[in-house]
Amino acid sequence: MPVVEIENLTKDFSVGFWRKRPVRALDGLNLEVHRGEIFGFLGPNGAGKSTTIKLLMHLLHPTSGDARILGEPVSKVSMHQKIGYLPENPYFYDYLTPAELLTYAGRLFGMRGAPLAKKVEGLLESVGLSHARNLQLRKFSKGMIQRIGIAQAIINDPEVVFLDEPMSGLDPLGRMEVRRIITSLKSSGVTVFFSSHILPDVEALCDRIAILNRGRLQEMGTLDQILKTRFEGHEAVLSGVTPEALDHIRKWCDEVWSMGDRLHVRIGARDNFGALIAFAFEHKLELVSVNPIRPSLEEYFQSAVGSRQPAVAAFGG
Ligand SMILES: Nc1ncnc2c1ncn2[C@@H]1O[C@H](COP(=O)(O)OP(=O)(O)OP(=O)(O)O)[C@@H](O)[C@H]1O
Ligand SMILES: [Mg+2]
Repeated sequence: MPVVEIENLTKDFSVGFWRKRPVRALDGLNLEVHRGEIFGFLGPNGAGKSTTIKLLMHLLHPTSGDARILGEPVSKVSMHQKIGYLPENPYFYDYLTPAELLTYAGRLFGMRGAPLAKKVEGLLESVGLSHARNLQLRKFSKGMIQRIGIAQAIINDPEVVFLDEPMSGLDPLGRMEVRRIITSLKSSGVTVFFSSHILPDVEALCDRIAILNRGRLQEMGTLDQILKTRFEGHEAVLSGVTPEALDHIRKWCDEVWSMGDRLHVRIGARDNFGALIAFAFEHKLELVSVNPIRPSLEEYFQSAVGSRQPAVAAFGG
């Protein structure tokens, strides 16, 4: 059973002074997230990512369609005990310290006493806020708020966590820490659904991704599935290539260039690449590196959603 099931989910917002003009923020979204995976939700600003997550959290009501988490409708209150949520722009009570906020959040889930205190300490440690444990949240920087937001999202040891841009506002160290938290959640069996604009992080973390554009699902699958369809060949670096060997190799290569005593080649056709590898082994050329040439997620994203247009087309009015 999928952990998150979204069927034909559509959300219209009414805008304008008389709230008569509907804007379609989400248009017939279908997707499933499987247990234990890290699922990345991408899309340009205004694509409908936060709207989807808010619909899943039952903070918004859909215009049509349906969503279930852990097999339960999103309206089911008891199901929400088993999930965690980091909102896009978390806002917490200014005069609490992070330890107090986490204690409060833990109590909402029925946690008490020593186990709760231990949990709070552990979380402060793992999000790198131990040093600020007695500082009021109004004195927190954006990145520190983001960290405490992540901590409160996982205080109840959720089965599924929804993180709306968990890396936003974090310094490089903070991003690494969040990556570490997300992978450790996965290794303890937690399903992670997160939206992000930081594509290298998505590339490093996600089992599968979905790309949303103007309220519609544009692409979904593993990174390999999405990027492999645009496979463009191989790039290899060799050393110890004599001029005679180079003469032989050249016919298989689309591009050849040398840097220092190393030879770089780019080969499109698989057969030619096979021939090069066989030749290299046979003639004891050193293969310094061999890499498939495929666009990064960043390049793919640019070409897929690059043509920026006003976010959502209004219909009617
Ligand atoms: N409360 C609202 N009232 C009216 N329109 C809204 C409301 N919330 C969102 N929208 C519209 O819905 C669309 C999708 O917004 P959403 O916040 O889901 O995008 P997003 O993908 O999360 O973008 P970002 O990357 O900027 O966070 C936008 O066009 C936005 O203007
Ligand atoms: Mg958003």
